[in-house]
Amino acid sequence: QDDKFKKVISHAKEYGYVFQSSEIYDGLSAVYDYAQNGAELKKNIRDYWWKAMVQMNENIVGIDAAIFMHPTTWKASGHVDAFNDPLIDNKDSKKRYRADVLIEDYCAKIEAKIDKEVSKAAKRFGDAFNQEEFLATNGRVVGYQEKIKSTLSRMGKSLENEDLADVKALIEELEIADPLTGSKNWTDVKQFNLMFGTKLGASADTAMDLYLRPETAQGIFVNFLNVQKTSRQKIPFGIAQTGKAFRNEIVARQFIFRMREFEQMEMQFFIKPGTQKEWYEHWKEHRMKWHLSLGMGKDNYRFHDHEKLAHYADAAADIEFKFPFGFKELEGIHSRTDFDLKAHEEFSGKKLQYFDHEENKSYTPYVLETSIGLDRMFLAVFSNSLQEEELENGTTRTVLKLPSVLAPVKAAILPLVKKDGLPEIAKQIVEELKWDFNVVYDEKDAVGRRYRRQDANGTPFCITVDHDTKDDNTVTIRHRDSMEQQRVKIEDLRAIIKQEVDV
Ligand code: GAP
Repeated sequence: QDDKFKKVISHAKEYGYVFQSSEIYDGLSAVYDYAQNGAELKKNIRDYWWKAMVQMNENIVGIDAAIFMHPTTWKASGHVDAFNDPLIDNKDSKKRYRADVLIEDYCAKIEAKIDKEVSKAAKRFGDAFNQEEFLATNGRVVGYQEKIKSTLSRMGKSLENEDLADVKALIEELEIADPLTGSKNWTDVKQFNLMFGTKLGASADTAMDLYLRPETAQGIFVNFLNVQKTSRQKIPFGIAQTGKAFRNEIVARQFIFRMREFEQMEMQFFIKPGTQKEWYEHWKEHRMKWHLSLGMGKDNYRFHDHEKLAHYADAAADIEFKFPFGFKELEGIHSRTDFDLKAHEEFSGKKLQYFDHEENKSYTPYVLETSIGLDRMFLAVFSNSLQEEELENGTTRTVLKLPSVLAPVKAAILPLVKKDGLPEIAKQIVEELKWDFNVVYDEKDAVGRRYRRQDANGTPFCITVDHDTKDDNTVTIRHRDSMEQQRVKIEDLRAIIKQEVDV
């Protein structure tokens, strides 16, 4: 698993997807830059989300609020008081960790043991293997599952009650070691606020303390009434936005999974109080469908219903994805009640109420939130797509099987040789296709090597121009996943590509 994760990170660098930020200065911890292909993939994921959430839903509109917000926002939202992580230092290594992440990683290791047992049994029993039954009845596996459940539940309860001594006791009882040095010599657990502070204004006495937003959601709440009135939406309706968020995370080697500067795609759905249960179920189901629509394998997703709830929620679930380091949170669905709007009413002294014509009364709406990290979605897509395949001739190929709709480059146009007028025809095809798709021209190296390069880059189609093209205006189109090749007319290329890459 570790190996797979290392491959993902080095492939992302080698093929121009993700670079360490400020690499020439040895980088900045937990901050990353998206390179030429990464920026396209990220944009395509964002567009895929925006289309599904805003364009396809008449009752959801999109906004783009500022990163800076009035500092009282964060008092009202609870972030100044409660947006903390429990930190623990190792006395020997002097390294700092999130106590809850240490415990979760411990559980992920047990999870990996379960996976191992499952694949061993699957091999042993062959067709007769029933995974569900095995998970429910195999003594050792059931024991592992119970251990994970009781550990997470105890951690949740202690954190909820701010019982940090118990979190430390749990780490000691489980004999969790410093992942880098193996030392088990821990300090007490302390709370640490995750918001980044900065100042607005030049003179020291008038400058105002600001925070970089730790979530995009509050930009939606404070605009709720403005948007509702100008869009003339009726409840239930949603406001969506994508944008940067900042958290002073304590992280250890998790690449873009947990970053200090990252992007969220959030939607707040405003509803009538009392209807939150049905909307919670509705959005859980809809968001899972969105994920499954990308075809990345049903078994890679699961729900995790929260026992420990954030300060604003009355129900919450994560959609977890099977990353190379185990199942981890990818998206959160939260029933936030009227916590945020009520708090902003209280702190601002302004009413944030909706007049319901059918009911003939005003009320503060309840809110259902869906919140997904764009970078985390990027990692899910990228790591799941990166595959090594054994070919019939005994060689292996590295292929990035990105969903075509998300691939940065949709087609590479390759002249078979660099002469006889073939480059000119290939460039002409680029000129025609570039109006509709991101395409590249590549004439360097033998065509087989160019195919491999595009496979590793995730390009769904290679289009090869050869000598016959000059006679009959046909080209070879090669499909990345099946490696099948077809002879098609140049004039049909646009439709063939469109059929595959359009949603
Ligand atoms: N408005 C609710 C909210 O912010 P959250 O669970 O703290 O909820 C939502 O964050 C999503 O944002 C997470 O499911 C995750 O995908 C992403 N996310 C949170 N912190 C992140 C970080 N440090 N780096 C990358 N993504 C992060």
